[in-house]
Amino acid sequence: MDLYDVMRSTAAVREFTGDPLPDEILHRILDHARFAPSGGNRQGTHVIVVRDRGTRERLAELNAPAVRRYVAQIKAGQSPWNPLEPPRPGPDEIAATEVPEHFTGPVLTAAAVLVVCVDLGVVAALDQHLDRVGVVSGASVYPLVWNVLLAARNEGFGGTITTMAVAEEPAVRELLGIPEQYAVAAVLPLGRPVKQLTKLRRRPVEEFVTRERFDGAAF
Ligand SMILES: Cc1cc2nc3c(=O)[nH]c(=O)nc-3n(C[C@H](O)[C@H](O)[C@H](O)COP(=O)(O)O)c2cc1C
Repeated sequence: MDLYDVMRSTAAVREFTGDPLPDEILHRILDHARFAPSGGNRQGTHVIVVRDRGTRERLAELNAPAVRRYVAQIKAGQSPWNPLEPPRPGPDEIAATEVPEHFTGPVLTAAAVLVVCVDLGVVAALDQHLDRVGVVSGASVYPLVWNVLLAARNEGFGGTITTMAVAEEPAVRELLGIPEQYAVAAVLPLGRPVKQLTKLRRRPVEEFVTRERFDGAAF
């Protein structure tokens, strides 16, 4: 596919046909994705390819606590899991919130699930002394994650960046034998999409790009 077509049509895919994703194609996807950048080119990522049913079932379960808070906060009109504002729903309300299937189903129905980790011992976290949540470390792993999804799209496959299981990172670490020094960055269910969206809802350039200053003229 043309690069720009891939970029404009790599949607979040959560429904899969059940077709296999053979190791050979997955290897090709990863072999192209690996050219993603990382801070200082330290390449601290580790990807675990999960196909085992029992492991996926546990990963699906580990999504549930974070999804409950996510859904409860959306119902309460909040931006879910936002660090600037504590959740308005209380623990009982969160615990009683149902978990929609589309948050747990994809890891069970995908042809393969990738768990992407990053070695915190090599990331360059330039924002570590700032009084806010860290974002720069993520830049040493999410370019690779996104490259995987772009390459998957190019091969006729798809998936979604999911992060709900990260809230239960100690349990994910234990499940998969991930060393203490590694953070779990994303869980990617991958497979053949049931349907391929080609028109994604994204803000136009003029809405989020300005000239010279944040409050400058729209670009
Ligand atoms: C950092 C990040 C975390 C995400 N976490 C989840 C998740 O845990 N579960 C999920 O179903 N989708 C998750 N998504 C997918 C987004 O909801 C999706 O990319 C967005 O809504 C755009 O969807 P579209 O490409 O279909 O328009 C995540 C996406 C990003 C970038």
